[in-house]
Amino acid sequence: MKTYTIALLPGDGVGPEVTRAAAEVLQAVGERFDHRFVFDTQLIGGSAIDAVGEPLTQETLVACRQASAVFLGAVGGPKWERGPRRPEQGLLELRKALGLFANIRPVRIYDALIDCSPLRRGIVADVDLVVFRELTGGLYFGERHRSADAASDQCVYAVTEVERIARAAFAAARTRRGKVTSVDKANVLETSRLWREVVTRVHAEEFPDVRLEHALVDSTAMQLIRQPRSYDIILTENMFGDILSDEASVLGGSIGLAPSASLGAKAPGLFEPVHGSAPDIAGRDICNPVGAILSAALLLRYGLRLLDEANAVEAAVERVIDRGARTSDLGGDLGCRAMAELIADEVAKSVTDTHHVQMHWG
Ligand code: IPM
Ligand code: MG
Repeated sequence: MKTYTIALLPGDGVGPEVTRAAAEVLQAVGERFDHRFVFDTQLIGGSAIDAVGEPLTQETLVACRQASAVFLGAVGGPKWERGPRRPEQGLLELRKALGLFANIRPVRIYDALIDCSPLRRGIVADVDLVVFRELTGGLYFGERHRSADAASDQCVYAVTEVERIARAAFAAARTRRGKVTSVDKANVLETSRLWREVVTRVHAEEFPDVRLEHALVDSTAMQLIRQPRSYDIILTENMFGDILSDEASVLGGSIGLAPSASLGAKAPGLFEPVHGSAPDIAGRDICNPVGAILSAALLLRYGLRLLDEANAVEAAVERVIDRGARTSDLGGDLGCRAMAELIADEVAKSVTDTHHVQMHWG
């Protein structure tokens, strides 16, 4: 039996509830597939500020570095909005410290949930796209300045930062439908002009078999609503990816369903649902654990390379949704715990299915 240490960072708001749900499903995977998962729970975000005055502690960072993979719930909330340190800084520092430059956010539509989408069936049916968001550069990591009557945030991209995320997106496209849409604002921004040049060169030199199109971010925000089926992989910089991935996640009916993986060259990957801390519904057992549970599936697939196990979790989620299980974001009345239990029970019963294509990483 193999042992894997998973650093669990529950964080704030609904973070602890969805982290518990994901851990419960991982536990079921361990029992079904004969692995031992050891969970090492650590502070992050607002709860870390409350406990020790810092959103990311040295102890948390060391635990993450030593773990096989990191699972994070969510950070942030109104309680910390005015403080000198913000919960979000903890997550940004952690991504940077672990070198997690590629944030992968798949969007798929469950047939059984099509009518929960804010868009018509004819538009969202069969949508299957993945956002590759650059995660450790750009505006979120540039210098910030504030004076009495002005403020500035600097946006910097190095050629090597663009190259490595572009390579990751092109390699993934080869295992999918072979298309990359690179999104920028090259009609205005210098960083975007560099982005476009580098992506074009990496494509020509290393991935000429992949179809590449360039698009402006404003137009992409519109096309994601008009014809989301036209996308396979969306490759973009940090802030545009933050915004477009929230927009894309709702196509499937609820942001509560959306998972994400943040990967680097060698450090353990970090896996977290796309939804935030949702302080308005925290602590009431009504949030949707599916985004977190699907993030646990990504942890199995990309973090631990346990493919059958990842497939088993995704299949379990689909079966439970097919049978009509719904949390309140999808018009149902199941609680977070009850939904997680149904999925964990399905995992326990699962038979292996190895007919799944592994999206390339590393
Ligand atoms: C996300 C979140 C974070 C981000 C925040 C909490 C720092 O919005 O993961 O999308 O902007 O990356
Ligand atoms: Mg975001």
